[in-house]
Amino acid sequence: MTKVTVVGAGFVGMTCAQRLAEQEVAEEVVLIDILEGRPQGIALDLNQAAAVEGYQCNVVGTNDPADTRDSELFIMTAGLPRKPGMDRSDLLEVNGKIVNSVADYVVEGSPNAKVIVVSNPLDTMVYLMAARLGFEKNRVVGMAGVLDSARMAYFLSENHGGGVKDVRCMVLGGHGDSMVPMPNFSTIDGVSVPALMPQSEIEAINTRTQHGGAEIVQLLKTGSAFYAPSAAAVAMAKSIIRGENRLLPAAAWLDGQYGLDGLYMGVPCVLGSRGVERVVELELGEEEAAKLQASAEAIRSDLQALRDMGLLEG
Ligand code: 2OP
Repeated sequence: MTKVTVVGAGFVGMTCAQRLAEQEVAEEVVLIDILEGRPQGIALDLNQAAAVEGYQCNVVGTNDPADTRDSELFIMTAGLPRKPGMDRSDLLEVNGKIVNSVADYVVEGSPNAKVIVVSNPLDTMVYLMAARLGFEKNRVVGMAGVLDSARMAYFLSENHGGGVKDVRCMVLGGHGDSMVPMPNFSTIDGVSVPALMPQSEIEAINTRTQHGGAEIVQLLKTGSAFYAPSAAAVAMAKSIIRGENRLLPAAAWLDGQYGLDGLYMGVPCVLGSRGVERVVELELGEEEAAKLQASAEAIRSDLQALRDMGLLEG
């Protein structure tokens, strides 16, 4: 039986559970949260919705880590979201503690699992999760590039006037203001974006993409985006569970690729049954490469802050 656990029953976690169930990605989906009643209530609701939608999936809501035992995959969404005006890095300490406590029961009950981290600040939380788990680095991956690319794709489709399904984008680097949209590796119906619109419009879209999460936080006032984040996490989960080997941008462990070593950062990678099957190295222009290095520096400074707080060793 394929079992996937979603950690955290906030908006991202509950929509992940819904998408996993509706798309029958696993036979059992466990939704775990520390709040009593909430995951149980959502699970009951989703199991009843199956009578109308017709999907086959048993959703289990729980507060007990023992119920997550033998999961093939975890999607880690637990943690506080940003409030308006907050930077993702402001969440470092509180979410770092949550990541460490979850890692402990993943190791204990599901030592062969793969883990997709969604909690923010993303690149730091995925590093912390992997460090605490002690698993092979390719079994841990962070969700950000698929989300950021989806945002860029939508903005491009609005500008171009066509449907978003024909747009393919690549956004690399950290999941923060220093993320690096890659118009040269983005296409609309197979045509490279720079051939379709002026540079000034591309730059405006790049900037809006970099602040795409904050734009939604400002509008919602409480909480942050959840439809696109859960869609992105579940696309990655499907590629792993079904061994689809899709080429997706995600925060993967770098040991020399792009001239970077010893951190997780958003790069194109192939996601399959072993997790990150391989990192794909693109031939970057000078400016793109410099932006990627700057993004890595921002992640390293967050990692140092985690060490200073005593949450990360080494
Ligand atoms: C976002 O970009 C929550 O970081 C997430 O919306």
